[in-house]
Amino acid sequence: MTARNVVLHVADVHKRFGGLHALADVDLQVEEGTTHAIIGPNGAGKSTLLNVCIGRLAPDTGAVVFDGQVITGKQPHEINQMGVVRVFQTPEIFSDLNLLQNVMVPAFAKRDGAFRLNAMRSVATRTDIRDEALHCLEEVGLLGQKDAVAGSLSRGDKRRLELAMGLVQKPRLLLLDEPTAGMSRHDTNSTIDLLKKFKGRGMTKVIIEHDMHVVFSLADRVTVLAQGRIIAEGSPDEVRGNARVQEAYLGGAHP
Ligand SMILES: Nc1ncnc2c1ncn2[C@@H]1O[C@H](COP(=O)(O)OP(=O)(O)OP(=O)(O)O)[C@@H](O)[C@H]1O
Ligand SMILES: [Mg+2]
Repeated sequence: MTARNVVLHVADVHKRFGGLHALADVDLQVEEGTTHAIIGPNGAGKSTLLNVCIGRLAPDTGAVVFDGQVITGKQPHEINQMGVVRVFQTPEIFSDLNLLQNVMVPAFAKRDGAFRLNAMRSVATRTDIRDEALHCLEEVGLLGQKDAVAGSLSRGDKRRLELAMGLVQKPRLLLLDEPTAGMSRHDTNSTIDLLKKFKGRGMTKVIIEHDMHVVFSLADRVTVLAQGRIIAEGSPDEVRGNARVQEAYLGGAHP
């Protein structure tokens, strides 16, 4: 692999919950512009790792470095302001608002520095943000439904709306926590196509995923966690052929 800028460095992170070592010696580097998958059996520590990256959980020791800056100790909204965006988790969509309004809320929050609904007051006058939101809806294929109430969307379309809400924030690092969980095969494939489309735009993605079809379709690099430790890392093919991985993961809870 050619040397690239490291956008995210999880540096020797440990995290305990009481007697449980949820993350142990986790050292992970994510290179700019790549799609980096994190896989592992249930309870491996994947979501804990993501929560440490976005500032929702503090590591016991170690640090997270984003774009050369230590972000450990910063508030989640400060980390978000730096360009780290997590989608498919909270904050979720606003069911009573239409799609356009849903996408405009995080766009205002990004600009104004706080996630506040009162930002909606100035909606009518902010054509720049409106245009950006429309563009993001178009990207995810939901422009035709911009006036529909978000609560009425299908599950797959809600995920696409959440993706538009992430994209409007112009992320440098997009963290996706099981983006296709519970989706039909058709919705999963359209999500894969969508995420492929964003490749090569300088956006770096970290994806936690149980669906091996998604991982092998999208990932440049795969890190395998088991019981809080990294047990393997490499290209999808390298990981697929790794005996420890097959034992710990592929032959385990999620074949
Ligand atoms: N806030 C918490 N307090 C105590 N234990 C926790 C907490 N969060 C997670 N754990 C435990 O830490 C371990 C790792 O959990 P985590 O949610 O990170 O796993 P995961 O890899 O995301 O699993 P899954 O595939 O099921 O989503 C699990 O044993 C879990 O029960
Ligand atoms: Mg999880």
